Amino acid sequence: MKHLQVDLKNALSFIDKNNFNNYDKLVKNQNEKLINKTGKGSDFLGWVNLPNIISSDLISEINETAKQLREKSEVIVVIGIGGSYLGAKAVIEALSGQFDHLKQERKNPHILFAGHNLSEDYHYELLDFLKDKKYSLVVISKSGTTTEPAIAFRLLRKDLENRFGKQETSNRIIAITDASKGALRNMAEQENYKSFIIDDDIGGRYSVLTPVGLLPIACAGYNIEELLNGAKSMFENSQNNSFEENPVYQYAAIRHALYSINKTTEILANYDLRLNYIAEWWKQLFGESEGKENKGIFPASVSFTTDLHSLGQYVQEGLRNIFETVISVEKTKFNLKIPDDKDNFDKLNYLASKPIDYVNKMAELGTKLAHIDGNVPNIKITIPEITEYYIGQLIYFFEKSCAISGYLLNINPFDQPGVEAYKNNMFALLEKPGFEEESRKIKTRIS
Ligand code: PA5
Repeated sequence: MKHLQVDLKNALSFIDKNNFNNYDKLVKNQNEKLINKTGKGSDFLGWVNLPNIISSDLISEINETAKQLREKSEVIVVIGIGGSYLGAKAVIEALSGQFDHLKQERKNPHILFAGHNLSEDYHYELLDFLKDKKYSLVVISKSGTTTEPAIAFRLLRKDLENRFGKQETSNRIIAITDASKGALRNMAEQENYKSFIIDDDIGGRYSVLTPVGLLPIACAGYNIEELLNGAKSMFENSQNNSFEENPVYQYAAIRHALYSINKTTEILANYDLRLNYIAEWWKQLFGESEGKENKGIFPASVSFTTDLHSLGQYVQEGLRNIFETVISVEKTKFNLKIPDDKDNFDKLNYLASKPIDYVNKMAELGTKLAHIDGNVPNIKITIPEITEYYIGQLIYFFEKSCAISGYLLNINPFDQPGVEAYKNNMFALLEKPGFEEESRKIKTRIS
């Protein structure tokens, strides 16, 4: 089996090579902290060994549950936000055919998402779309109390109850939440929903390889064993003691080295639109893990060549605080060549019989060289193809790199205290019971 590769040569040229060698010891120390659970946030390290220890019983139960839901559903709505949403969305988008959702003949149910926004129109349109569909719900919230998914769940549960009655509704709902705490756990017990547990020691953004990600991915028809096998192979790779050969060490070290020379924005670039939600997941992983104590690299993303015609100008000549990390996919799933045309009005015959991916790869190479000339360091991450196995590698690669990067910044990569600020203001403005004092205070700010 091939492996994900990291190529740093076009980033190393921007920094002092001798200094970079000091990272050898530094990143190994951070890895030790993760493995021995001696670093910050060490009670949230359940994800580290997860690909090795997830039980075959749990995988079978997830696959069996997915099978049952698929049999009775034209649509499965996955309700969740942040870490309870982005991992599943990212993997499903990466693996799905890009026009599958428009096909009449379908072998898989539509997987739709809700609970990740508060748009009234989104919810109205979703209910409208579902009105003549047989559908089921997978509702995911670790805390069981997050407002966005709670509102979506209430709306959809009521709709199911009106249409199918209470008993059948219970059969159409799977809850994924804490083992004992939170409103969702209480409801699952009371209403007899089938449920899965999110372990206490795994935070939302590290939960894609738990039932949080695995159940929706299995519902969409993808092979979760292969995803986990890929993650497991990356776990092994990330334990390689050679600094040069360990992709996780290399990526974590170069990010920190670039940050130290004021490259404070990282742009994750892809040349395949299917990876756009991998980038969204990655932004949450790194943004929520590193952005604290007034530190952290700002994670941004682009999809090329599309965005070369919008953000390309900025990347080439804007503020020089950016570096670029490109996810490059070696092999396409399908083959399609540019046809010959005897009139050649469009002057494209010089490309006739070339695969479209050849043009894409030349765009990638040309862009890399241009950006390096424009003072944008370039990190290249290559995966052989977009399959469950390599997406599993990519996920674990980013998770482990993120944790080590966070430790290099000397912050706790596993908490998210800043997320509470907006919630407290929103609850005060909504006059939620228990927020009376905050409500009184906030009114003086907005009057
Ligand atoms: O990564 C995180 O911890 C967050 O993004 C959470 O996943 C998100 O806030 C949703 O929380 P919950 O699963 O408790 O509803």
